[in-house]
Amino acid sequence: MQNFVIHVLIIIMNSTVKKEKTKKITAIILAGGKGTRMNSPLPKVLHPVGGKPMIVRVIEACRQAGVEDVRIVIGHGGTLVRTVVTPYGVECFPQAQQLGTADAVKSAQLDTLEGDVIILNGDHPLIEAEDLKQFIENFRSQSANVALVTCELKKPKDFGRVIRHQGSLRAIVEAKDASVETLKIREVNTGIYIAQADVLQDYIPRIDNKNLKGEYYLTDLISLAVEDQLKLIPILSSPKVAFGVNTQLELARANMIVNRRKVKRLLDAGVLVLDPTHTYVEDDVIVQSGAVLYPGVYLRGKTSVGPFTAIEPNCYVVDSEIGESVVVRANSYIEKTVIKARASIGPFARLRPETEIGEEAHVGNFVEMKKVKFGNKSKAGHLTYLGDAEVGTDTNIGCGTITCNYAVDKKKYKTKIGSHVFVGSDTQFVAPIQIGDHAVIGSGSTITKDVPEKALAVARGKQFVKENYVKTQGESETKE
Ligand code: UD1
Ligand code: MG
Repeated sequence: MQNFVIHVLIIIMNSTVKKEKTKKITAIILAGGKGTRMNSPLPKVLHPVGGKPMIVRVIEACRQAGVEDVRIVIGHGGTLVRTVVTPYGVECFPQAQQLGTADAVKSAQLDTLEGDVIILNGDHPLIEAEDLKQFIENFRSQSANVALVTCELKKPKDFGRVIRHQGSLRAIVEAKDASVETLKIREVNTGIYIAQADVLQDYIPRIDNKNLKGEYYLTDLISLAVEDQLKLIPILSSPKVAFGVNTQLELARANMIVNRRKVKRLLDAGVLVLDPTHTYVEDDVIVQSGAVLYPGVYLRGKTSVGPFTAIEPNCYVVDSEIGESVVVRANSYIEKTVIKARASIGPFARLRPETEIGEEAHVGNFVEMKKVKFGNKSKAGHLTYLGDAEVGTDTNIGCGTITCNYAVDKKKYKTKIGSHVFVGSDTQFVAPIQIGDHAVIGSGSTITKDVPEKALAVARGKQFVKENYVKTQGESETKE
């Protein structure tokens, strides 16, 4: 027992020592700006890239890079931004007025910072966890006080220019404040900084707003660090980390780039993407090797696609699980649905949330299902609506079948159809209703009462035939 206690103590001590060794890292993401040029009612950082609000991409990159404390500076559209980001376990700090990037950092409760701090922009959606990890490692391995991430651009436009002297960083000059000579510099400030928490606590409050825009520039941190001979390092990175979204055109470009990255990863992993420029796959989607994606396929959210499954042109799939060797024929629309192995769907099928299609089942053209458990090997080949229904195995649902699930009391009722049932064409099931195994339903029936197993049910008007009803030319109408 004593040995056991000592053993546990050693484990606890080791983990505490480990924790002490890894210094804390906090991210401050600036997201207070207005985004005027987006011309959109949505706050800029909430515009989606690869199906996620761009600020969520930045938060996720931070998390994957091991940053636990993520602080978001909010301003314009702050209430909405807070609602979207709070579920990601981040903390929001309102910036009362948008007085500049240094003022934004100041809003993130500097006095509570510890360890190292990475500052990022919420509108840089192309940044990835690997980039952040590399910046942090670089900063720490050189024992720097401040690091500035830079990159070289062919057309540096409005970016702050990086001034170096004999290779060392001297300052950042904002494009608006720069001379013609300075504007020729192609190395720019990406807007990403890393600093020790105490450096920020000390220097941010000293930054003033004596510049053309009358703003508190975070870039002044660099010149202040130079003056005080702090250890300041540039980290030269790639243009993608400087890619900020300011307009709808840039948003569209960001979406294209992120999609291209994802599709490339799928191609590398052995997925057959017939036309990569016209196939859209969001980041969290999983597609197994050997699957085939035709042009115009759009896979969204938490969708997964099994091996050897083919998804034909113009199919839209959201949050769905598609098993192996499934065929989804052209123009199908699938939401929150599970499709088991070797099933075939479409063309023109619509599968709505909470639907499960069994193995080797067939759902044909113009069939809509909502909240349906459709058994293995069952078939609904054409023009059918099933809602709030359960269908057993190997049952045939004839063309034009409808479950009348929505009643005049505005409630939904369930239809239960057993296994090996034969439902003739043009049948309506008025729910709630149950059909036993092996039952047969005659075509054109409106079924309002339960049908026991192995029974035949026919519920339609009896056929009436009056012979020689129509008189053709020449036939006399003489009475008998
Ligand atoms: C800033 C840098 C510039 C750099 C560029 C990279 C300054 C002074 N300039 O310029 O050197 O090349 O980023 O993209 O820092 N924000 C707030 N509150 C504010 C002001 C801004 O939260 O009061 C946020 C914005 O929402 C944005 C980020 O800070 O996410 C950057 O601000 P922005 O106005 O875009 O700065 P730039 O002029 O692009
Ligand atoms: Mg900007």
